[in-house]
Amino acid sequence: MNHSGGERSNRFPPFDFWTSNWADRLLLPGLYRPGGFVYVLVSPNFVADGVSRSTRPESTGSFIEMSESSSRSLKLPTASEVIVFKDSASACRAAADRIADVIRQVPCPKLGLATGSTPIPVYAELVAKYRSGSLDFSGVHSFNLDEYYPISPLNDQSYRWFMNHHLFSHVGIPANQAHVLDGTVPAEAADEHAAQFERWIESAGGLDLQLLGIGRNGHIGFNEPEEMALAKAIDLPTRRIELHPVTRSDAAPAFGGLDHVPTHALTVGTRQILKARRVLILAFGANKADAVAASLQGPPTAQVPASLLQTVADRVVWLLDEASAARLVGS
Ligand code: GLP
Repeated sequence: MNHSGGERSNRFPPFDFWTSNWADRLLLPGLYRPGGFVYVLVSPNFVADGVSRSTRPESTGSFIEMSESSSRSLKLPTASEVIVFKDSASACRAAADRIADVIRQVPCPKLGLATGSTPIPVYAELVAKYRSGSLDFSGVHSFNLDEYYPISPLNDQSYRWFMNHHLFSHVGIPANQAHVLDGTVPAEAADEHAAQFERWIESAGGLDLQLLGIGRNGHIGFNEPEEMALAKAIDLPTRRIELHPVTRSDAAPAFGGLDHVPTHALTVGTRQILKARRVLILAFGANKADAVAASLQGPPTAQVPASLLQTVADRVVWLLDEASAARLVGS
């Protein structure tokens, strides 16, 4: 199902990003010096208080340089933190440290977890912390972002299989506290199953932390690019969706060819993602650079789902490597 009923294309970004005023206003060439440092980009100031979300597309940005050994992180009440690491391994260690902090500090923590190649080292770091005895998962409740549909949990491309393999089976998280959408529910029950999953998150009190990757087309979870009013785009429920052509094509090698990639998926909607009390989004590699730039420096739009994070910017931290951050300065 195409939520909007509109046409989709492989083009990304879906608007003329590089010649838009956005790029002119926000890029600060000359302030960015690649090297062995961590850089923090203060992202556009979109006011967000969790109740009323401003989508004011007016702001400026600035870069602040930090040494990698520094534990200082720039905190502004209405802006995202964007930290660029010299490599993805450092970024994944930082992500695991932040997740571990939440697990240790929040009683009965509720985590929204992500799949894809990006967070695999994060889970490896969390497993290492568990094995060293420094992290206890017995009180953790997790809710995965998405699942292909239809798919069996026995299929090694299913996200249930992925999570068991990379995290759940190693850290002693009680099975009844680790939730993944079920890719085997009958088609006529899929919508109710998705709605029920959202009710589980709600009744657990919402997410303390949402971990995200980003698709090459800017998707978060399987909230795919669509033509849609902003008010609707930030309030999408957990639901069954039709996968975008870019998403299916990116998944084709893992499935052994495009014909084997499911056409649909179940995904937690933007409503729950944007309600999370903290959001950590990771992006690595040059093939994510356009999506990162459009998400941070383009307008918030349903056509670039990760750009919707601008509406809750003060709760969002971007962890990038040099390659994925490269387009932030138009390089
Ligand atoms: C899939 C997942 C996303 C993930 C994306 C990126 O589409 N549904 O949650 O962010 O892949 O995957 P990768 O990290 O492999 O680039």
